Amino acid sequence: MASQLLLIGLFVASCSLALASDPSPLQDFCVADPNSQVLVNGVVCKDPKLVQANDFLFSGLQRMGDTSNAVGSNVTQVFVAQLPGLNTFGISMARIDFAPQGINPPHTHPRATEILVVISGSIEVGFVTSNPDNRLLTKVLEMGDVFVFPQGLIHFQRNVGHGYAVAIAGLSSQNPGAITIANAVFGSNPDINGDILAKAFQVDKNVQPPPAAYHRQPPPSAVHLHRPLFCSPVTQIRHPSHLVTTVATVSASDTVATAA
Ligand SMILES: *[C@@H]1O[C@H](CO)[C@@H](O)[C@H](O)[C@H]1NC(C)=O
Repeated sequence: MASQLLLIGLFVASCSLALASDPSPLQDFCVADPNSQVLVNGVVCKDPKLVQANDFLFSGLQRMGDTSNAVGSNVTQVFVAQLPGLNTFGISMARIDFAPQGINPPHTHPRATEILVVISGSIEVGFVTSNPDNRLLTKVLEMGDVFVFPQGLIHFQRNVGHGYAVAIAGLSSQNPGAITIANAVFGSNPDINGDILAKAFQVDKNVQPPPAAYHRQPPPSAVHLHRPLFCSPVTQIRHPSHLVTTVATVSASDTVATAA
């Protein structure tokens, strides 16, 4: 009996540990020490005696991110990597800029719920519930509107106004992480076997792209709707953890290798 209780207790304890939100701080602050070689869950604290006001400061969210990339958006992160004072606080933020028709492509944050406020423009937002319903909840937001994206769910944003749009997001982790669905599934390194993707998405794995699609530059439009599933991705938007956009030209051998 006692051992059963112990087992149940351990099970409950492991469940609570598995909740993917940041742990609470155990001191006033633990400013991240980026130079430490010690690996912990989070970042090692800098000596509190050496902490300065600047450790709690990030400057630069007044600047617009460069949206001249394939998706027409840019996320400026203020996570623990940019603001060391955030370490252990379970919170962070970002500025998201959108060119006209720009999208922040479908992605999830494995460690954070996101709350977003529109600063200017009109932004269509949406998220999809988990299995089995996969229900899409979507809304067009105007300036001042606030929307929340539940932790872990796939969500997206699109500028549906006439000009540029800007939003500010708060996230419930110092390091929310991001998984951009298209990049993770179709742009993984190495590729996920094409047979697996063909069966998972119920498409023909020899789908060929319109050749011009690979050389189109922003603004994004039909290119992405017609994007082939089983060829090397045209664009790799490493979002938002690595804000790098690369444009790859696809050769016949890429296609063959991917389809293999
Ligand atoms: C976002 O904007 C910054 C600042 O302009 C730029 O350095 C970065 O390359 C941009 N990222 C993307 C994905 O376009």
